Amino acid sequence: MLQLNPDLNDLVTDAAAALAARLQTTATITAAAPGRVNLIGEHIDYCDGFVLPFAIDRYIVIAGAANGTSEARIATALGDSIAVLDVSNPQEPSEPKWANYIRGVIRGFQDRGHSVPGFDAFILSSVPGGAGLSSSAALECATATFLEGLLDTRLETKEKALLSQKAEHDFANVPCGIMDQFASAFGKPNRLVLIDCRSGEPELVPFENPDLTVLISNTMVHHELSDGGYASRRKNTEDGLKMLGKQSWRDVTEDDVRGNWDRLGDPVNRRARHVVGEIARTVAAASALGRNDFETLGPLMYASHESLRDDFEVSCKELDIMVDIARKIGRNGGVIGARMTGGGFGGSTVTLCESRKASDIAETLASEYEKITGITPQIFASRPSLGAHLVV
Ligand code: GLA
Repeated sequence: MLQLNPDLNDLVTDAAAALAARLQTTATITAAAPGRVNLIGEHIDYCDGFVLPFAIDRYIVIAGAANGTSEARIATALGDSIAVLDVSNPQEPSEPKWANYIRGVIRGFQDRGHSVPGFDAFILSSVPGGAGLSSSAALECATATFLEGLLDTRLETKEKALLSQKAEHDFANVPCGIMDQFASAFGKPNRLVLIDCRSGEPELVPFENPDLTVLISNTMVHHELSDGGYASRRKNTEDGLKMLGKQSWRDVTEDDVRGNWDRLGDPVNRRARHVVGEIARTVAAASALGRNDFETLGPLMYASHESLRDDFEVSCKELDIMVDIARKIGRNGGVIGARMTGGGFGGSTVTLCESRKASDIAETLASEYEKITGITPQIFASRPSLGAHLVV
């Protein structure tokens, strides 16, 4: 039941072979960037909060080469069509939509004064799409890294993440925070990427205990609500902060929210309660993890899920079912804690558990979930992995 993560070397080999078959091009540059899972700190990266994601060992790989023209020709494993981009002009959003992430990143380089030459590329992914695991950030960071190779230039890691985030804002129309691109760009083996979203600085926190396993359960559902849902949650938090008369959510206390409950009104008051509570939970969770205090950490993960479900309203029936199953397996069954991860409205849960029981737990999560929903989930374990890099 526990799915294996495809080996990055195999992805690289397969991408090069597909580039040769589809575009008759020999790869000279190959870039890889991972998706991410977030342990805790959800929907607070755009509220100056703390988040605790890591780069997973699932990657988007781009294999390609300059083609001596002014066009980028890009093929993927997802279909037969080839996106053709005129890179002699500043990029604008267009069709096909999936290529907008690439256009947006090219535009970021163009805005920094680079003239991007034509290239051929093939894109291959082991990051499940629409699963709340940041396949879009992986595509942006892989593209940025590919362009670094193509242009023989290097961006600071933080600049690469911010350029990628801007591509998501301007070309995919999602007003996301910085978590996904930071995790994909800064990830390191055996390290969590603790981000203080107020200072915009990541801290790499050790996560090396072999007795701990992180299970990712993709519910295989993605609700359309996500389109406007993310932007409207972000707007609620901006309105709330303004009504509280504060500069930053870090300056808001639980008492501030309680004392202004009616004035904030529903749903802004519940959104505010989530933000303040989740910031505190994330700080407490990072500290509990550091001292292997799982009795503190587990309840914080469940509380995060409940707050996202009831106050922030970004969970869904399938995510709740998956978390409930994990909770029922419980500490005796080896589960430390579980919660939805990522933007929500479908996607995946994250379950922290004891390694020696991980495959049994995955088995139970899959079979119980399927029994209740009729859907076969995708469950895999992941360890913190290397962020965006050129493969040499
Ligand atoms: C999406 C966004 C992130 C973050 C999460 C929720 O993944 O891209 O910036 O806001 O949702 O925590």
